[in-house]
Amino acid sequence: MAPVYEATVSAPVNIAVIKYWGKRDPTLILPTNSSLSVTLSQDHLSTRTTVRASPDFGGDRLWLNGAEEDVGASRRLANAIATARGLRAALEDQAGGGAVPLSQWPVHVCSENNFPTAAGLASSASGYAALVSALAALYELPQSASELSRVARVGSGSACRSMLGGFVAWHAGVAADGSDSLAEQVAARQHWPEMQALVLVVSDQKKAVSSTAGMQTTVETSALFAERVRTVVPARMAAMQRAIAERDFAAFAEITMKDSNQFHAVCLDTYPPISYMNDTSRAIAGLVHAFNAAVGRVAAAYTYDAGPNAVIYALEPDMRALVELLAYCFPRPADTAPEAFYPDPFGLFESPAS
Ligand code: ADP
Ligand code: DP6
Ligand code: CO
Repeated sequence: MAPVYEATVSAPVNIAVIKYWGKRDPTLILPTNSSLSVTLSQDHLSTRTTVRASPDFGGDRLWLNGAEEDVGASRRLANAIATARGLRAALEDQAGGGAVPLSQWPVHVCSENNFPTAAGLASSASGYAALVSALAALYELPQSASELSRVARVGSGSACRSMLGGFVAWHAGVAADGSDSLAEQVAARQHWPEMQALVLVVSDQKKAVSSTAGMQTTVETSALFAERVRTVVPARMAAMQRAIAERDFAAFAEITMKDSNQFHAVCLDTYPPISYMNDTSRAIAGLVHAFNAAVGRVAAAYTYDAGPNAVIYALEPDMRALVELLAYCFPRPADTAPEAFYPDPFGLFESPAS
């Protein structure tokens, strides 16, 4: 029987505080602007991917959440696998016949997301980061996480940032071949231990307009978008890195909320317009502003990706108070199990209203 080589890796999602939205090169996935995100803990939202290589396999195949995807029909999947395979082939060349010829064998990939796919919770980020990390483990690639972020990027732009933990910048770069368009950690998670993220699942349904399609229409039609790329994002990238370095939560939060709002404004300025947020999303944003007004400082920030689901950033102990308020304002429906409705880390399973 022919040998089978195998590796299994998990990767976390990341939620941008300065949003990536727009490509200058759709094949290599080179962005129109730099972006910055926080990588969340793998204990909550993550992708777990197993890759196997064998000379007996007939071709590359991938199963996502148990259903087979057509690898040949997906340019991004084919590109990500081919790029990782190219790095392995270079390694085999260097070894001059002394390495197992894994680069010549087809792969089978089995991937599971433990959270809703394509719902605006960054499944493409953890998904492609897990795929590339698993291939890198299988192929024993010597490249650093930052170097491998270039490989994850050709699968999904936001995936490059999930290759690193903590606070991560994706530098847009200027090179036509994408060599300088990669992710780098700007601060480790331990730099700001009080920082917490809360994910509020407003809807687990698949979004109507994928991120890839939405941002393409934006690039083609939005005048506001051009201004965002030219003047707004460069200033915000600098201010955000300063806020993180100084652990200035008020500055961090204000930039985060403004950038989310501008991203959704740019979506509405797209023609035909795209609305990712719904009434519940807007109610949550209103509640965060009311909370900040009540405590007399900017103690919490919301951000929304391409979907209605909210991510809240706050420091402990403010997060605890905000969770109480959210549970009061969005009480659990009578037919829902408490632990299913509030799977939160504070043991707060009952709404104070009930
Ligand atoms: P999201 O907001 O969840 O990132 P996107 O529209 O950006 O939504 O991307 C969703 C797509 O990403 C899916 O339809 C699928 O093609 C791809 N994807 C999601 N998870 C995985 C995974 N684990 N492995 C490979 N591809 C994935
Ligand atoms: C709103 O990385 O999902 O989440 O590169 O086409 O796969 P593709 O798009 P994707 O876009 C993410 C958009 C965003 C903002 C962000 O994560 O920076
Ligand atoms: Co995505």
